[in-house]
Amino acid sequence: MCGIVGCILKDNNEEVAPILFDCISKLEYRGYDSIGLATYFNDKIHIKKDKGKILEVDKKLNLADMPGNFGIAHVRWATHGDPSKLNSHPHVDENNTVAVVHNGIIENYLEIKKQLIKEGHVFKSDTDTEVIPHLIQKYMDEGFDLEHSIRKTIEVIHGAYAIAAVSVNEPDKIVATRKDSPLIIGLGNEGYYLASDSPAILKYARDIIYPEKGEIVILDKTGVVVHDEFDNVVNKEIETINWTPEMAEKEGYDHFMIKEINEQAIAVKNTLTQKDNIQQIIDEIGDIKRICFVACGTSYHASLTGKYLLESLAGIPTDVILASEFKYSANTLDEDTLVIFISQSGETADSLKALDVANETSKTLGIVNVAGSSITRRAKYVIQTQAGPEIGVAATKTYVAQLTSIYLFVALLSNNQELLDELNKVPDYIAESLNDVEYIKSISKRYNFARDFFYLGRGYTYPTALEGALKLKEITYIHAEGYAAGELKHGPLALIDKNIPVVVVIPPGDNYRKTMSNLEEVKSRGAIVLAVGSSDDESLKAKANDVIAINSNVGEIIAPLVYVVPLQLISYYITLEKGYDPDKPKNLAKCVTVE
Ligand code: G6P
Repeated sequence: MCGIVGCILKDNNEEVAPILFDCISKLEYRGYDSIGLATYFNDKIHIKKDKGKILEVDKKLNLADMPGNFGIAHVRWATHGDPSKLNSHPHVDENNTVAVVHNGIIENYLEIKKQLIKEGHVFKSDTDTEVIPHLIQKYMDEGFDLEHSIRKTIEVIHGAYAIAAVSVNEPDKIVATRKDSPLIIGLGNEGYYLASDSPAILKYARDIIYPEKGEIVILDKTGVVVHDEFDNVVNKEIETINWTPEMAEKEGYDHFMIKEINEQAIAVKNTLTQKDNIQQIIDEIGDIKRICFVACGTSYHASLTGKYLLESLAGIPTDVILASEFKYSANTLDEDTLVIFISQSGETADSLKALDVANETSKTLGIVNVAGSSITRRAKYVIQTQAGPEIGVAATKTYVAQLTSIYLFVALLSNNQELLDELNKVPDYIAESLNDVEYIKSISKRYNFARDFFYLGRGYTYPTALEGALKLKEITYIHAEGYAAGELKHGPLALIDKNIPVVVVIPPGDNYRKTMSNLEEVKSRGAIVLAVGSSDDESLKAKANDVIAINSNVGEIIAPLVYVVPLQLISYYITLEKGYDPDKPKNLAKCVTVE
């Protein structure tokens, strides 16, 4: 979705534009249709904005070269109105007195716009956002100050928003508010900051305030004040982020995605340190009769693995529901159900909606990577995955960290010491699976021709196959379908021929023989088979066209944590073969704050 930042420096003589540019560049994973900055200087709002990726627009406009010591900035992921210069943020009123950046969607913007046009306002863009500066200006013209004009504006608009505004009529401050879209406030040595997400400001401020829905935040060069809806000052807790600025840099890698794939062993290792917290949560939760996972995208696939583990190892009936489809199942929740929300960002709008519903009847647990995010604040219990900041849009290290939390949860819930011991070996298995990169690169050159792929897995690795297919779709734009190996014969087998590679995830274990039969079925119909299997599996090597070998000690129960790594690498290298940017897949955003 979109990303917003704002900054006001303590020193009047310092220029804010280079900092705004640096901060907003860190949010490019949230949107890369367009970028824009607004600064205030000499009684005027200065704006530079255009459609295009940050570096392209910067080359044209030299974005860091703007006067003034405070301002706001935006990266856009278009929802209302094409990517274009006019639709780029910041948006202003017709007199250029108020500039606004917004992340979210204003659902009733059309009726507001109609009314404002009747009142004489002139609009320039097709966006929902543009009503906001016009409303603020209207209320300021009626005599309200910036803060109360924003207060009145949010009484009128419906939807999700994080908004930051500056006004020439009340300079030297930025006023911000939020509802259902993320917003954090950073307290730094040189100034005060706001942002949609922490990587934007890590370099400048790690002491953070999290505004709640409807609170109005005023940033000026002397500090930050937060007001509740009755204008009372709210004493906000200051939380310190333990991520470092370096963690959100590429650190010599070509892309964030490959850096993050390489960080997976450490992500698992660090998440394993959560064992005591998880045990405490299990003790506090008490008896559970049913578990229901709610998630989207990659987090949904982690949840699906959770179902296999919980049902087979802990005997707890478990459902997995896509967050956007959750409302149809809400009636079945009760106080004996634990609803687990898995989310790397902690801000996915569909998941948040479902969480509010689940909180009414059931115990809720969030498994989330971003500290302080909305799910961590709203779920009754929280497990913090320890993957560090993930910038690549396609989730990788957060996925294995989510899986690690689920495995720990299941192992502790079922007193399964053997599984706990196995988990401790996973970081080494993952590190070892990364040794085969040259081979995977060479395979990627050969598989790059295909327009369709199938990914097959059975049991614990069926969700791994789904995740492998999702990774391929997301970044290579090749159509891919993940299938339960045994289900292929009930339809999709009709599609198999020599043009459709089939990736078979086949670890050693109870399901091995049946999956091998499925492999033979597709092979005998001419498919090219790329298998991911055990390093000592000679018959697999004889049957598949290519085999990516994983340590033979990785059995099928823990296979999802390790076997996914080569699948991520295949997608990454095919993307490079095709000349696409794996970090910024078209049309996708890392954090989806609209339903
Ligand atoms: C977006 C991201 C995916 C992610 C999904 C769910 O679509 O591009 O990588 O899996 O949202 O996000 P969450 O933050 O809830 O895990």
